Amino acid sequence: MKAALLLVLTIWLNVQYGGCAFSSSCSLPPSKWCSSLDSAIQCGVLKQCLLSNFTRSHQTADQVEVGLYYESLCPGCRLFLTQMLLPTWVLLEEIMSVTLVPYGNAQEKNVGGKYVFECQHGEQECLGNMIETCLLNMTDASAAYETIHCMESADDVISAAKSCVDLFSPELKWESIDSCVNGDKGNQLMHQNALKTQALNPPHKYVPWITVNGAHTDDLQDKASTSLFSLVCSMYKGPKPAACGGSQRGFRSYSNNE
Ligand SMILES: *[C@@H]1O[C@H](CO)[C@@H](O)[C@H](O)[C@H]1NC(C)=O
Ligand SMILES: *[C@@H]1O[C@H](CO)[C@@H](O)[C@H](O)[C@H]1NC(C)=O
Repeated sequence: MKAALLLVLTIWLNVQYGGCAFSSSCSLPPSKWCSSLDSAIQCGVLKQCLLSNFTRSHQTADQVEVGLYYESLCPGCRLFLTQMLLPTWVLLEEIMSVTLVPYGNAQEKNVGGKYVFECQHGEQECLGNMIETCLLNMTDASAAYETIHCMESADDVISAAKSCVDLFSPELKWESIDSCVNGDKGNQLMHQNALKTQALNPPHKYVPWITVNGAHTDDLQDKASTSLFSLVCSMYKGPKPAACGGSQRGFRSYSNNE
């Protein structure tokens, strides 16, 4: 019964939002919908954009900064990234910033001035880490996150990469990602990831390894893994945005029904 209701709701939402997003008047990826008044109107999200711009302009406290040290093919990382971190960021974008560091338990060696990487889940994982690192460097944060979400929720992270880029980072040419991935730039960027990961204090013991405002404790890791949403809302020092109040009510009523 509940499942059927959910399905109907999902279809309705798709018709309402997905349907209009892909209509001829809105050809922009979601990260660009609010970029101007015209695009917001064309994509049918004017109200949402005005509200989100308003909240942003009234933001008074520092954003809660969530860092994720992960590997592109580690199942726990993929789950946290796609089911927890990025959905939370979509809801709490105004009060939360995200730092993604794809590297995790990889190792590097300097061979004649170039770094050679070895990854826990093999060559394919090194490639996935590198594609995501290049994306994070070459496009704005929202487009990069949407593209990475698309890759990490696909059956095959690597073979989905090109179509995810086409869909969510259409201003980027795949060739430019490819030359970053195979060139000095990617090599240097991945070395930076290695340095950031090695600089963690305390040092990471597993992946996904979560930091909040630069700190890692067992308690923060636990809370972030169970409900990052509640954690970020509770740690934000400014006036709570509507999303924090509204969705917390939603969570409570879900648990009453179970
Ligand atoms: C939202 O804010 C951005 C930057 O501040 C601005 O360029 C854009 O036009 C605004 N969008 C809407 C729909 O007002
Ligand atoms: C991208 O990488 C270059 C170094 O290759 C660096 O100078 C630049 O700041 C990076 N940009 C972003 C947005 O990370």
